[in-house]
Amino acid sequence: MARFSILSAIYLYILLVGSCLAQVPRGSLQQVTNFGSNPTNVGMYIYVPNNLAAKPGIVVAIHYCTGSAQAYYSGTPYAQLAEQYGFIVIYPSSPYSGTCWDVSSQAALTHNGGGDSNSIANMVTWTIQQYNADTSKVFVTGSSSGAMMTNVMAATYPELFAAATVYSGVAAGCFVSSTNQVDAWNSSCALGQVVNTPQVWAQVAENMYPGYNGPRPRMQIYHGSADTTLYPQNYYEECKQWAGVFGYDYNNPQQVEQNTPEANYQTTIWGPNLQGIYATGVGHTVPIHGQQDMEWFGFA
Ligand SMILES: *[C@@H]1O[C@H](CO)[C@@H](O)[C@H](O)[C@H]1NC(C)=O
Repeated sequence: MARFSILSAIYLYILLVGSCLAQVPRGSLQQVTNFGSNPTNVGMYIYVPNNLAAKPGIVVAIHYCTGSAQAYYSGTPYAQLAEQYGFIVIYPSSPYSGTCWDVSSQAALTHNGGGDSNSIANMVTWTIQQYNADTSKVFVTGSSSGAMMTNVMAATYPELFAAATVYSGVAAGCFVSSTNQVDAWNSSCALGQVVNTPQVWAQVAENMYPGYNGPRPRMQIYHGSADTTLYPQNYYEECKQWAGVFGYDYNNPQQVEQNTPEANYQTTIWGPNLQGIYATGVGHTVPIHGQQDMEWFGFA
């Protein structure tokens, strides 16, 4: 009995020390290599704020092509906002040359399919466990290729995320490769030539996690009218997709607000789960609206 207690105590001690050691230093960008299954070898970087909340939220912030976790960390406001609001930021890092994300293979476009989306979901699960995070405050955002991945994460792992913000992306599944290539560019989608009904787009998203009937992340979609990388038609296709998923009448939004959140931006609200924000005169790089993101995610 005594020996059992001593062994139990030692075991408990190892567990506690082990879990403390697994936590990374706070207040700077850190790489995590042991987050679990990583089928496509995506890099995981994390920012744990000095001002960490007791039960923190998580924001996954996904970089653009040619970008990196480091570039997105230094070029976006999420780390500063993490200090303000106490959440953790996960910055995934693409494993491919050119550093786009794989949003074209069936693996990536399937829940637990073994693609980049699966690796990123595993980072989220690890962080939730490691930091006792609030599972109702897990969010995803990204720019360009990272915005495409944001839509894909929302479709493949709807159970993980409460809300998403998409800066200049395409609808989930729009970049699919007809020959199942990994990390493929899809010109017809990029040029805005893939046009579907809300019903068809909703089906594309829902097929990424067949049989799922639970809650889905609220979606906020930004796009610039002068985008010549991912043509503006993609804005309408994304909004159609999520309107279809949420059962909103795409052609009858609840509300359209001019010059919101700033001059020449138009916000269209279909319902509590979907907003589109169309930036007239803005190109492919829509500036990140950190304060609006905090409001959309419910931190502010
Ligand atoms: C590009 O995506 C569309 C669907 O969005 C698909 O029909 C088409 O086959 C894809 N193109 C290639 C070359 O894979």
